[in-house]
Amino acid sequence: MIPLSEFAPRLIAWQREHGRHGLPWQGTHDPYRVWLSEIMLQQTQVTSVLAYYARFLARFPDVQALAAAPLDDVMALWSGLGYYTRARNLHRCAQQVVAQYGGAFPASAAELCELPGIGRSTAAAIASFAFGARSAILDGNVKRVLARVYGIEGFPGEKRIENAMWELAESLLPASAADPSATHAEPIFHAEMSAYTQGLMDLGATLCVRGQPDCARCPFQDDCVARLSGRQRVLPQARPKKTVPTRQTLMLILRHADQVLLEKRPPSGIWGGLWSLPQAADEASLAVYAQRFGAAAPFAKMSMLTHVFTHFKLEIEPRLADLDHAVAHLADGDDYAWVALAKLEDYGLPAPVRRLLDGLSGTLL
Ligand code: ADE
Repeated sequence: MIPLSEFAPRLIAWQREHGRHGLPWQGTHDPYRVWLSEIMLQQTQVTSVLAYYARFLARFPDVQALAAAPLDDVMALWSGLGYYTRARNLHRCAQQVVAQYGGAFPASAAELCELPGIGRSTAAAIASFAFGARSAILDGNVKRVLARVYGIEGFPGEKRIENAMWELAESLLPASAADPSATHAEPIFHAEMSAYTQGLMDLGATLCVRGQPDCARCPFQDDCVARLSGRQRVLPQARPKKTVPTRQTLMLILRHADQVLLEKRPPSGIWGGLWSLPQAADEASLAVYAQRFGAAAPFAKMSMLTHVFTHFKLEIEPRLADLDHAVAHLADGDDYAWVALAKLEDYGLPAPVRRLLDGLSGTLL
């Protein structure tokens, strides 16, 4: 296993020779440009961001211009990048930086983290690129690198594993040469921090990728726990599959001409307040229920549906009964209604019930 203190120097040397250079946000320490790039690069690849980044800067060259713009203009320029909460937070963040900090982004990860849309890892990336701050990033790519190089078991999305990874990420940072009370790092340390942070991102994005990593070109190939044990495909571990209990229910489709009977579910519990089909635990109770409507068992069986909730899986066995007499005496009540199949879209239905009834529309008459 590579000693903690050797990780950063080796990564920095690798980044300087083999990492990505010349990305448009790399030639600057301007916190506005660094921040904008980091927000755009959340959940989005470099190649998709490039054109948006250039257009954004042309229209909003600084944080004041962005803060003063109507939100609609910001959304229009963001359109196509996806995850639109990022754009709304971007606008709010610009306004807060202007209002709270007079247009100058704060220099510490801790303060950046308080701003809208900036999480712990993004705050650290901005602080290290813009100000040379000694702060650790930990995004999905970095988790993969650390899990493999240091052989960290467990699902990184689990809090306990994530906390351990944050601790490891902090302990791997380049040794501090700077006065910790200074707000801006010395130029040499700043360059090291930028190369280090960029190196972690580059390694995760170009070599230590999901699936088949390119270990032959990796600076940690001789020390990497995953590679030495042939477990690159296993680490980081996937989200554990939950085994949830299965419950069964019968659902009754009472059909008369083009209408079906819907029942409103109680306001709380699963599907609270939605319109659904009459349910029963067994055939006998279903038959008793159906008798009220003059429908006699046995009912036609349809294919089973399953629906997965967080805590259990529901197997739904549909039964179909066609009523051939008038149902005018069955006036709608508060919690049941005869609804034409063509009008179902006006009702809030659970997804599997909608699927079931959609399937029925084609078979009508
Ligand atoms: N992903 C997130 N931040 C990035 C950066 N600064 N460069 C390349 N990819 C990134």
